[in-house]
Amino acid sequence: MARFRKDPDPRFWQLNRSIDFDWRLAPYDIDQSQAHARGLMEIGVLSEEELGQIDAGLERVRDRIAAHGFEFDGADEDIHMAVERLLGEEIGPLAGKLHTGRSRNDQVATDVAMVVQAHSLRAIELCGAAMEQLLTLAEAHRDWPMPGYTHLQRAQPVYLGHHLLAYFWMLARDVLRFQFALDSASVMPLGSGALAGVNWEIDRDSVAADLGFEHVTHNSIDGASNRDFVLDYLAAASTCSMHLSRFGSEIVIWSSTEFGFCQLDESFSSGSSIMPQKLNPDSAELLRAKSPRVAANYSTLIGVMHALPLTYGKDMQEDKEPLFDAIDTIELCLDVTEGMLAGIEFDRERMEAASGDEMLAATEVADLLVRGGVPFREAHGIVGDLVRDAVEQGKPLSELTPDDLRRRSEHLDSTYYEVLQRSSWLESKRIAGGTGSVPLAAQLDSARETLAAVKARVVEERS
Ligand code: ARG
Repeated sequence: MARFRKDPDPRFWQLNRSIDFDWRLAPYDIDQSQAHARGLMEIGVLSEEELGQIDAGLERVRDRIAAHGFEFDGADEDIHMAVERLLGEEIGPLAGKLHTGRSRNDQVATDVAMVVQAHSLRAIELCGAAMEQLLTLAEAHRDWPMPGYTHLQRAQPVYLGHHLLAYFWMLARDVLRFQFALDSASVMPLGSGALAGVNWEIDRDSVAADLGFEHVTHNSIDGASNRDFVLDYLAAASTCSMHLSRFGSEIVIWSSTEFGFCQLDESFSSGSSIMPQKLNPDSAELLRAKSPRVAANYSTLIGVMHALPLTYGKDMQEDKEPLFDAIDTIELCLDVTEGMLAGIEFDRERMEAASGDEMLAATEVADLLVRGGVPFREAHGIVGDLVRDAVEQGKPLSELTPDDLRRRSEHLDSTYYEVLQRSSWLESKRIAGGTGSVPLAAQLDSARETLAAVKARVVEERS
């Protein structure tokens, strides 16, 4: 840099350079430069011939990077300087005209917004693929009873299909969050310059359309200093990975010998180096354990942006590593989830046996009393007494005698024994959103519609 008489101290240089991680911006930076050059040509800053040379030169830089990996040298501070240097090697001093009407501040914000758009869409696609597996499994297991849990204690029976669809709806909300991130990254900062705008009346709308942005920023100060779209992506990814961690955790529990509810395919399990019998659910454990690092990436960037005066500060260079790490982690985890689901096997008998525990019908008996006019709180107390009687006598609820029942309430007659028939506990949940097979069929219909809309969205965005 002409102003400087001294070279940077190597320690400062090491701290300041971002090329070691921002090389991943290369294809976006090149696309952006090609669109910017067209914008410069339209206002007469570049001739048509110069545009042709710059465009072709950038294509050669793209090919060089694709073929040999990044050939950056020790003097490259960041990807933007490196692409410009490589372009200079290709086309000579003309490369220097490309930076007219652009600052690295609006340039980097634009590259990063392009990354967020591309990977929000990819996350939506991957959520859709996992949702499809969940829906297929839910349809196949729509009438398999299992215990539902609260506090990891058996609570009330549900159908396995209903339980699996709970994850479907979590991912459906993740899709909405990634869509929000995509929309928030679809406003182009380019043209904001360093912070005040630029002296060249480039047609920003046409550059934006060229690059696939929906809008351009209204305010150059905001344009140069905004990283909300990265935070929006990181927030979406944090919530999504939290969902996957809960799924992973249930699979770890369910696949244990103690539960025996399911088994993962061998291709998603590992063995033990010492215990030959082991089939460990490492994939599910890692879904669980990857989640906090994604949330930490959000926390890193909100910390960087916190209290940062407008507009650009070098602090903002620290947006990239958390973003790239979150992208790599969530995309891998979603893909693994899809693969795990495709090969999982459930054990109908084990689940059904566990759901046959009569204690799970306690709420049903309370509701029977309510139908006879007993206030629910009182009914809850009566059934609590019956449960204690049964536990003390070492019998299931259905083996209490009519005398035992009468001692506790005059409202208990033979319907008590009917209510303890297992299928009635599930089928009595006829309310919309409940586990009964009637609302479950409606839920499956809604899930099919939701999945079709997610897939259509991806196709539309890609076209
Ligand atoms: N490598 C920088 C970043 O990632 C590019 C922008 C540099 N701008 C500046 N004014 N030094 O943020």
